[in-house]
Amino acid sequence: MKKLLVTAALPYSNGRLHVGHIAGCYLPADIYVRYQRLIGREVKFVCGSDDHGVAIVLTSEKEGRTPQETARHYHDLQEADFRGLGISFDTFSSTSQNPCHAPRSQDFFLRLHEQGFFEKHSSRQFYDEEREMFLPDRFVTGTCSFCGAVDQNGDQCENCGKVLDVDTLRDAVSVVSGEPATVRETVHWFLDLGRFEEKVEQWFQSAFLRDQTRAFLRGLLGSGLVKRSMTRDLSWGIPVPLKEKDAEGKVLYVWFDAPIGYISNTEELLGSGEAGESFEQWWKSDDAEILHFIGEDNTIFHCLIWIAMLSAEGSYQLPAGVVVNQFLNIQFQDEEEEQKISKSRGTAVWIGDYLEEGGDPDVLRYYLTTIAPEKARTVYKPEDLLQKNNADLANTLGNFVNRVVSFSRKYYGPEVPACDDASFDDIDQAFAAHRERVGAAVSAKLDAHEYRAALEEVMEFARAGNRYIDEKAPWKTRKEDEATTKRTLVLCMRAIHTIAVLLQPFLPQKSGEMLALLWPEQASGEGRVEKPWSEQLNAPPSGSPLGEPVILFQKKELNAE
Ligand code: MF3
Ligand code: ZN
Repeated sequence: MKKLLVTAALPYSNGRLHVGHIAGCYLPADIYVRYQRLIGREVKFVCGSDDHGVAIVLTSEKEGRTPQETARHYHDLQEADFRGLGISFDTFSSTSQNPCHAPRSQDFFLRLHEQGFFEKHSSRQFYDEEREMFLPDRFVTGTCSFCGAVDQNGDQCENCGKVLDVDTLRDAVSVVSGEPATVRETVHWFLDLGRFEEKVEQWFQSAFLRDQTRAFLRGLLGSGLVKRSMTRDLSWGIPVPLKEKDAEGKVLYVWFDAPIGYISNTEELLGSGEAGESFEQWWKSDDAEILHFIGEDNTIFHCLIWIAMLSAEGSYQLPAGVVVNQFLNIQFQDEEEEQKISKSRGTAVWIGDYLEEGGDPDVLRYYLTTIAPEKARTVYKPEDLLQKNNADLANTLGNFVNRVVSFSRKYYGPEVPACDDASFDDIDQAFAAHRERVGAAVSAKLDAHEYRAALEEVMEFARAGNRYIDEKAPWKTRKEDEATTKRTLVLCMRAIHTIAVLLQPFLPQKSGEMLALLWPEQASGEGRVEKPWSEQLNAPPSGSPLGEPVILFQKKELNAE
C-alpha cells in the first residue's frame, strides 16, 4: 500500500468557517484520513490558510487591519474551529507565515519561466492615482455600459451577466480611495493552458474523479483551454521573482501560489531531507500518492490549472484524484425556499457559534455526513439537525447502547456475560451474519468516497440491532431462560462494539466513549484502539469488564412551529 498525502483546500483567511466549508471538503477529507489510518496506511493530512489575493486585501481595508494581521487573525480562528470539530490535520499552516512557502512558490515560477512556458502580454487595467495602485476587478465599481446597471464590479454585470472590463465599465470608481479610476497599461505573465491539454487529458483518464466532476471537465476540455495570467498588480503577495523592470511591484496570482501551499506546508512539516524524512518522499516518490479534497468552485483550479502547472514544472507527481463536493445550501424553518450560504446576507451557520453554544462536534459531523453533497447540492436545515440528533443518535444509537449495557449490568454484573455460540436460533444467525458483513460494506463505500452511504450502512445495522432486541425481548426471557437472555445481550454487545469501531472515522469522540463502555481494556485516548480495523472487529470476549453507562447523546427540544 502506498503512503497517502491528503490535502483539503486552503481556506481564505478572511473569514470564519461555516457548515458549507466543513461539508464541502474538511469533513469528508477527515473521515477518509481517519479511515485510512485505521486500516494501517501511512497518511499525512495537510492544510493551512490561503493568505494572499484580493479577498484578504479587501477584508483588511474594511476591517482596518493590515493584510498580514487579517491573515493571522482568521487563520487562528479557523484553526480553533477545525480543532473543535476534530479535524485531524497533521499541519494547518499558512501561506504567509510558512517560511518555506514563498521560496517554494518562486522556485516553481522560475522553473516554468526557464522552460519558456510564460508569455508576457500587456493589457489595460483600472488604476487608482491617489493610492498609486492597479485595481483588480473587485476594487472598482461603475455602471454597466450594456444595460445601465449601477454599482457593478469590474468583472461581470450581476444584472445582464456580460463581462465587464476597462472598456465596458463606465464611470469607474476605486473602492479603495473612492476616487474615479483611471486606466493604465500593465504587463503580466500568462500560462497558455492550451499547451497542456494533452497532459490534462491523460491525467483525466486515470485520476479518481466523481461522475459529475468528470462530466464538467469533459465540457471544458471540449471547448479548449485558454491563457491565464499568473501574476497580479498588488502589494500583498509573493513578489514575481524576476529582475526585469516589468516585474516590479507585481506578485504571483493567488491561485498560482495557493496550491503550491500543499507542497510547501508538507515541506515545513517534514523538512527537506537533511534530517531524514523529506517532503519529496511524498511529492516526488512512487511510494506515495496524493489526493485533494475541494468544493465545487475550486474544480477548474485543481483539475485544469494545477495539473497544467505541475506538468509544466515537471518534478512533482500529479494527484491520484480530486474529490469534489457540491455546495451546501441552507433553509431556515420559517422560510419557504433554500438559499445559498452567504456571509453578507446572514445565511451562514458558523462553526464558532455552534461550538460556543455547546453544540456537540460529533452531532454536527453526523448530520453533515448524512446530507453530504457528494453528487448534487443538498440542503442544511437547522431543525433537521435536531431531529436527526434525537431520532438517529439519541434513540437508535444511544438508547440501544444504554439499554443493553444497563440491563446486562443490572442482572449479570459488570462483565460481558457467557454466550454459547453453538445454540444460535435463526434470528441470532441472521443478526450475527449482518454483523459479519457490515464492516466490508462500510469499507467498500469509503473506498469509493461514498461517505454518506458508508454511514448509512452503519446506521442500518444499528436499526437492525434495535429490531433484534425488540424481537428477542430479553426483559421477558430473563425469568425463564437465562442462557438465551445472555446470548441476546452478548450479540447486542458485539454489535455495539462493531458499530463503535465503524463509527470511528465519522464520530471520533462518541465512538471512543462507546468503545470505552464495551471494552475499556482496549480503548485508549480518543477511543482509538491501536489495532487495525479488521482486528478491531473482533468483539469483546465473555468475562471482559464493562464500563459505566453514560448518556451518549442528549435529546434536544424541537422548536414548535
Ligand atoms: N482559498 C480558496 C478558496 O477558499 C481555496 C484554495 S485551494 C488551494 O476557495 F489549492 F489553492 F490551496
Ligand atoms: Zn449589465
